[in-house]
Amino acid sequence: MIQIAVFGYGTVGSGVVEVIEKNKDVINKKAGEQLNIKYVLDLRDFPGDPVQEKLVKDVNIILDDPEVKIICETMGGIRPAYDFTKQALQKGKSVCTSNKELVASHGPELLRLARENKCNYLFEASVGGGIPIIRPLNYSLTAEKIDGITGILNGTTNYILTKMDREGADFDTVLKEAQEKGYAEKNPEADVEGYDACRKIAILSSLMCLKNVKYEDIYTEGITKITAKDFLYAKEMDMSIKLLAMSKNVGEEYFAMVAPFLISKEHPLYSVNDVFNAVFVHGNMLGDSMYYGRGAGKLPTASAVVSDVVDCARHIGKTVMCLWEDVDVKLADIDRVSRRFFVRVDSSKADMAKVEEIFGHVTVVKTAALPDEAGYVTEVMTEREFREKAEKLGAVISRIRIED
Ligand code: HSE
Repeated sequence: MIQIAVFGYGTVGSGVVEVIEKNKDVINKKAGEQLNIKYVLDLRDFPGDPVQEKLVKDVNIILDDPEVKIICETMGGIRPAYDFTKQALQKGKSVCTSNKELVASHGPELLRLARENKCNYLFEASVGGGIPIIRPLNYSLTAEKIDGITGILNGTTNYILTKMDREGADFDTVLKEAQEKGYAEKNPEADVEGYDACRKIAILSSLMCLKNVKYEDIYTEGITKITAKDFLYAKEMDMSIKLLAMSKNVGEEYFAMVAPFLISKEHPLYSVNDVFNAVFVHGNMLGDSMYYGRGAGKLPTASAVVSDVVDCARHIGKTVMCLWEDVDVKLADIDRVSRRFFVRVDSSKADMAKVEEIFGHVTVVKTAALPDEAGYVTEVMTEREFREKAEKLGAVISRIRIED
């Protein structure tokens, strides 16, 4: 029998307990041994919940128990999760986590500790909730040189953008409704400003580069400036707006960013709606592959944590290879990335002739609901060129990048 402990009995932690209980037959069979949750660490009490008898408030009871071989860290945040994880790994206990903040900021160090102590630090649940994406990158696509990852990695913002698209509603209205229904946090900043997606693409980028991509270096723009008017234009163009997290390898250089993009109906990520996530991976031999599913939520995320528990149970005393060197990647300046841009222009300040004089050839997009302005799609140009031209025109209301 393998003894397990769960750190944090919140949404994901209670999901882990539920998944292990509900699917114990198949999980034990796949693990090759019986798994048992011996402890749950939480400062709170849960009277009436069967977990109460396993509840401990002192982490040392778990860390000092040699029977405990695997820990599920579902606390979230950096502290005290970082200290508890380090101590557990130093004692040779494997840790399975859903904590993207911790993986993104201390991944290489925690992986090294796991190697040194012949145990594992696994983080399938940290990106894309229940979608298998870490394991495919680590174990399945090992024959590939991965040169591009583009994902919808945040369920909350995808839900908000999907509602804005379908209902023509404004950002604030949809956010309020999402908060009332519990789909968005009371403090939605990490999601709507793109910080959550940024941590997730930092993790995926590191697995693509096999070196450390610092999340602090990734250009990040959220969805708070996207309006119902932008969606009117998107509809005219048969497009939608999605918050994309992307990482690309061009020659010797790596580019990474998070921002809202216009994507056409033909794009594989166009139909990824509501709280669903998807990750689109390009490898130099395989070409395109896509991973789709529930990117958040109690049971999908817990299922991914438990899949790591099974992996750990199959590899007691052995470290499963994960290449993520503790060497920082110098990301290239996104100013040099080229793409098309959609730009809304105040018609009283600049007509199409003026727009073309500065931007070169553009395609005009008009919507009857907005008679005082016009939308234009530029030809391919760099971020820097676009910014300089937009400043020169001086009549730009807003701009959205286009992902072709
Ligand atoms: N807040 C995250 C999301 C939860 O909305 O996707 C999963 O990491």
